[in-house]
Amino acid sequence: MEMDNKYQGDESHNAKDEKWREEHRLGLINREISSGSKNFFWQCVFLFFTFAFCGICVFAINTGEGKGAEANTQGKTGIKNRYNFTHTWEYKDSGTMEYPSCSIGENFIPPSKNETSLVDFAFLSKMAYRSDDNAEKDMKEWFGNETKIEYFTNISTVIKEFEDSYKDPSNVVYKLFGFPNEIEPEKSVAILSIKGTDNGWDILADAQLWAGAAISQFVRSLIPLGSLFTPLLEDLIWFVSLIESKNLRNLSFYQKITALVNHLDKNTTFLDNDTTFKQKYPNLILTGHSLGGGLAMISGAQTNKTVIALSGPNALLSRRTFEPVITPEALKNYTFNIVPDRDPVPRIDDLSKNFQRIQCRTSANNFIGCHFGDQSICELLLSCGSEGRPIPCNCIEKGRDSNTRGDIFFERLTPVPGNNDDKNSTCRQ
Ligand SMILES: *[C@@H]1O[C@H](CO)[C@@H](O)[C@H](O)[C@H]1NC(C)=O
Ligand SMILES: *[C@@H]1O[C@H](CO)[C@@H](O)[C@H](O)[C@H]1NC(C)=O
Ligand SMILES: *[C@@H]1O[C@H](CO)[C@@H](O)[C@H](O)[C@H]1NC(C)=O
Ligand SMILES: *[C@@H]1O[C@H](CO)[C@@H](O)[C@H](O)[C@H]1NC(C)=O
Ligand SMILES: *[C@@H]1O[C@H](CO)[C@@H](O)[C@H](O)[C@H]1NC(C)=O
Ligand SMILES: *[C@@H]1O[C@H](CO)[C@@H](O)[C@H](O)[C@H]1NC(C)=O
Ligand SMILES: *[C@@H]1O[C@H](CO)[C@@H](O)[C@H](O)[C@H]1NC(C)=O
Ligand SMILES: *[C@@H]1O[C@H](CO)[C@@H](O)[C@H](O)[C@H]1NC(C)=O
Ligand SMILES: *[C@@H]1O[C@H](CO)[C@@H](O)[C@H](O)[C@H]1NC(C)=O
Ligand SMILES: *[C@@H]1O[C@H](CO)[C@@H](O)[C@H](O)[C@H]1NC(C)=O
Repeated sequence: MEMDNKYQGDESHNAKDEKWREEHRLGLINREISSGSKNFFWQCVFLFFTFAFCGICVFAINTGEGKGAEANTQGKTGIKNRYNFTHTWEYKDSGTMEYPSCSIGENFIPPSKNETSLVDFAFLSKMAYRSDDNAEKDMKEWFGNETKIEYFTNISTVIKEFEDSYKDPSNVVYKLFGFPNEIEPEKSVAILSIKGTDNGWDILADAQLWAGAAISQFVRSLIPLGSLFTPLLEDLIWFVSLIESKNLRNLSFYQKITALVNHLDKNTTFLDNDTTFKQKYPNLILTGHSLGGGLAMISGAQTNKTVIALSGPNALLSRRTFEPVITPEALKNYTFNIVPDRDPVPRIDDLSKNFQRIQCRTSANNFIGCHFGDQSICELLLSCGSEGRPIPCNCIEKGRDSNTRGDIFFERLTPVPGNNDDKNSTCRQ
């Protein structure tokens, strides 16, 4: 974590401040009391946390609860509700072992490919942030027209039945997609994509679930050989969580996701022509970005479902605070986390066995940029090769952080065979 938040006021301001202090006895007394470097340190620590908390609250109030996903993704970065793709340029697979996990086995064979590729999941985790319409348009363009995709919206029977039966008002947002496989029906797969932190209230929810783990990690880092105490931390976090009321815990977001997964598993919901959801889609994979990824990993470990999370906070230390409790074995068997460099969020709590670190090529001080899903999609496309997927224009557009034209994302574009376009005009209309 960057702790370099010391305020560097300008000279004249400091001088004025000094003058004010000289003229006021209270200021004088205050200075007497608070002299000493230790005191200064603790003041800084205190101020840091106070400002961080105020910042989160202000952010929460500003972004508001009512605004949907669409409004928020349009922020300062200029990311729009939909991707503008370029289909005439591609990234070649570098052929090195840069990321051994560009594709992870064959448990889900996405249409038009023959292995499970990480970038598809990074993309699917972003789809939870889109409106239904825009998600459908983006998915069609990403996977190609020939790929059959079923979109389950809130008016689909499965979802409607669940929403009607689940009374808790936690407003976790998710999207459900089906990829039917007509040739081998047993390989049909449904994807549940869970939306992550989108406004400040969600950040507070994040804090509620993972504060124990984050604070314990901080304390562990202060103790020499602190990692020896890791088994004790689990007990500590569990004990701290007892202070939370049971009521609050029942409202936690992951409870709803777990209930939804169990609902989809039950053999009662009929889709059209007498097949149940489970019969049509025997495989269910959870995915999500940020808080969504964290929730997906908790629910996946609770229900024995494969999870591929992007930048999600982990669950190994805090596993005993969830209901039902999850085991390290379940985390190992079912969860996979994509961990961008310098992204603080997936460094909360300890990683389980399966994860892939990826690069983050933003400017040196932009560690927040490393948390954005769009950045990770660009990194994965570049390093793993685009392999038939289109490239979102925001990867190569001018003005995206330090990614001006001429940087590696632009240089490494190679033309799709048959394309004679001028590279400079790519993504410019
Ligand atoms: C896509 O490009 C068009 C034309 O330049 C532009 O008007 C539109 O806002 C872009 N959309 C996105 C999502 O960037
Ligand atoms: C998977 O891809 C490899 C190489 O691209 C190819 O040789 C193999 O036949 C493909 N398998 C299937 C089932 O399409
Ligand atoms: C996909 O659909 C678009 C618009 O409906 C069409 O222009 C395009 O030719 C289609 N591509 C393929 C490969 O069918
Ligand atoms: C379904 O979602 C749409 C927005 O996508 C919303 O306007 C509508 O009220 C929702 N319907 C129900 C029953 O929740
Ligand atoms: C919490 O959920 C459990 C089951 O998930 C239920 O038995 C219990 O009554 C709930 N507690 C409260 C306070 O709602
Ligand atoms: C699920 O429902 C079908 C009928 O729709 C039935 O044939 C099958 O045995 C059921 N499976 C289970 C595990 O209950
Ligand atoms: C379901 O309906 C489709 C046509 O809509 C049909 O081709 C298929 O055979 C039906 N499946 C079953 C199991 O009845
Ligand atoms: C998950 O798998 C383990 C081991 O196979 C089993 O004991 C447990 O009951 C399963 N949990 C669920 C929710 O299916
Ligand atoms: C995890 O996988 C191992 C080996 O496949 C299996 O023995 C064990 O039951 C699994 N545990 C869970 C919780 O699924
Ligand atoms: C593309 O842009 C670069 C720098 O902006 C310039 O050096 C180069 O000549 C341009 N190429 C073409 C074909 O216009």
